[in-house]
Amino acid sequence: MRKLKLIGIGAGNPDYITIQAVNALRQVDVVFVTDKGADTADLVRARKDVCERYMQARPYRIVEIQDPQRDRNPAAYRSAVAVWHEQRAGLYEQVIREQMSDGECGAFLVWGDPSLYDSTLRIIDQVAALRTVEFEWEIIPGITSIQALAARHKISLNEIGGPVHVTTGRRLRDEQPADGTSVLVLLDGSCAFKSFTHDDIDIYWGAYLGTPDEILLSGRLGELSARIEQVRARARNQKGWIMDTYLLRKRGASSC
Ligand SMILES: C[S@@+](CC[C@H](N)C(=O)[O-])C[C@H]1O[C@@H](n2cnc3c(N)ncnc32)[C@H](O)[C@@H]1O
Repeated sequence: MRKLKLIGIGAGNPDYITIQAVNALRQVDVVFVTDKGADTADLVRARKDVCERYMQARPYRIVEIQDPQRDRNPAAYRSAVAVWHEQRAGLYEQVIREQMSDGECGAFLVWGDPSLYDSTLRIIDQVAALRTVEFEWEIIPGITSIQALAARHKISLNEIGGPVHVTTGRRLRDEQPADGTSVLVLLDGSCAFKSFTHDDIDIYWGAYLGTPDEILLSGRLGELSARIEQVRARARNQKGWIMDTYLLRKRGASSC
């Protein structure tokens, strides 16, 4: 039986990796790395660095998977993503079948944690459902960008006893922060926070969290909105890519 490990490697700082992840890496023969093009070369490099740092004890192989091209602004978002996942499932099935022998252990190194806005879990489910190659798999959790954001800003995610809402930039416009709710936003390519003009919302914004390029800004959204947009655009131009996350919170109650 082949074994697969979906290992959360933390979202940025190489020290975010857990001891459970390090122990799992030491059992791995093949590491699968998805290459999503030039813009994400740094993220591929970060995964290879993790291997070099923690997998010295025994030989291992790295197999790169070229991610299928994807329409970033399709008319029908869900069906476009479903097609993309199907293509990926086909590729993952092929590498698991062809690049691993029976009894070997393979790993997908997942940025942050596999449970948060990451498709690897769903794709592995799809591959298993095909029943063309037999394998068992387990998940090793990692530190998410949300936890990194809270730690770097020294804040709690929730207000006292309050809910936390996690969403994407694409959906934020329809999801005004309610009183007492903290809203965490990932995957926002177009500064969706700009649509909120209330004076009573605070933003805690972080880009490249946990890395040497980390940028942190926090304060009243009304005062910071334009600045964050500028800083974000400049950083994105300089590096060629950006990953940023933020928390929006209505002023009022204290957090605990
Ligand atoms: C595809 S999702 C993956 C989330 C990841 N699984 C996690 O646990 O954080 C990518 C989004 O996560 C956020 N993100 C991931 N790493 C980040 C970092 N180091 N700094 C800021 N945001 C980050 C950004 O919102 C980015 O658009």
